[in-house]
Amino acid sequence: MKSLSALCSILLLSLSLSVSADPIIIKFSHVVAPDTPKGRAAEKFKQLAEELTKGRVKVEVYPNSQLYKDREELEALQLGSVQMLAPSMAKFGPMGVREFELFDLPFLFPNSTVLHRVMDGEVGSKLFAKLDTKGVTGLAFWDNGFKQMSANRPLHNVGDFKGLKMRIQSSKVLEAQMRALGAIPQVMAFSEVYTGLQQGVVDGTENPVSNFYTQKMNEVQKDMTISNHGYLGYAVVTNKKFWDGLPADIRSELTEAMKEATEYERSIAQKDNDDALEKVRAAKTTTIYVLSDAERAAWRKALVPVHAEFENVIGKDLIQSVYDVEAQVAKEQQKPAERKKHDGKKKK
Ligand code: LMR
Repeated sequence: MKSLSALCSILLLSLSLSVSADPIIIKFSHVVAPDTPKGRAAEKFKQLAEELTKGRVKVEVYPNSQLYKDREELEALQLGSVQMLAPSMAKFGPMGVREFELFDLPFLFPNSTVLHRVMDGEVGSKLFAKLDTKGVTGLAFWDNGFKQMSANRPLHNVGDFKGLKMRIQSSKVLEAQMRALGAIPQVMAFSEVYTGLQQGVVDGTENPVSNFYTQKMNEVQKDMTISNHGYLGYAVVTNKKFWDGLPADIRSELTEAMKEATEYERSIAQKDNDDALEKVRAAKTTTIYVLSDAERAAWRKALVPVHAEFENVIGKDLIQSVYDVEAQVAKEQQKPAERKKHDGKKKK
């Protein structure tokens, strides 16, 4: 009898051990190639999360829209079919959080210092608070980079866009941007862009070069203009119920893993885009044109009115916050002597 109960205890213990040894699975789905800033950072997060939690969490990364395309992935997250995503800011509009389109405004961010200060400051927190009401928790902002335009015709002047069908992400701001250039915007899932360009469903597109090259868009686009007219970055998000339900120690280890993965991501993004540009150049499929200062000024003139057009959708205060950060950063970057001169002038 005694030995039977001892056997039962051993069985129960091994059963409970095997149950508690089951790792928590995080399915991390995204739409780009593994060798992009987002793809590499997702892998980095996996490595860090599994290490820090000593295997109590297992992260499965699904790149290249393997699981879900753009529109579907946020629905899947809300339903709990996946636990983590990093959609570009433009993808949150259809979910009813149009404020994220702030990041789509053309010629809003002059450089990444301003951009990061905005993301990591009050504006970023406000945007994450909006997601909360949708059952989604924001974890981090990741970079890709500034976007370049491409087509099968040179795009130097605003007039060159006339009548071109341009693929855009699902953003009203991007729609307005293409219309302001005289083009015809067409929303299309990222996974369909290559075929769309190949078959002439669309004539051109915009993306940072890392996405352009890794999706082989250079094979189907003869001309690319280095315009840096807008930005493309990501919000890393998780299902709120899943996140809040995690044991506190696991949540804090995952928070640390995300912090380190974010630092890594931001440190590689610019170089990935620079390297991709060199690869496009080497492929000799696509003529790369850099806008002159005068041409860029003309693009700006055509596109900056989109900011005012979207004040009511995005919020005048959010747009103003970016202008304020820009002014602050410009002031800080002035050489001390210039600043003294400027302040002296102001006092008179
Ligand atoms: C796009 O749809 O062009 C991008 O959002 C893809 C991405 O996630 O970088």
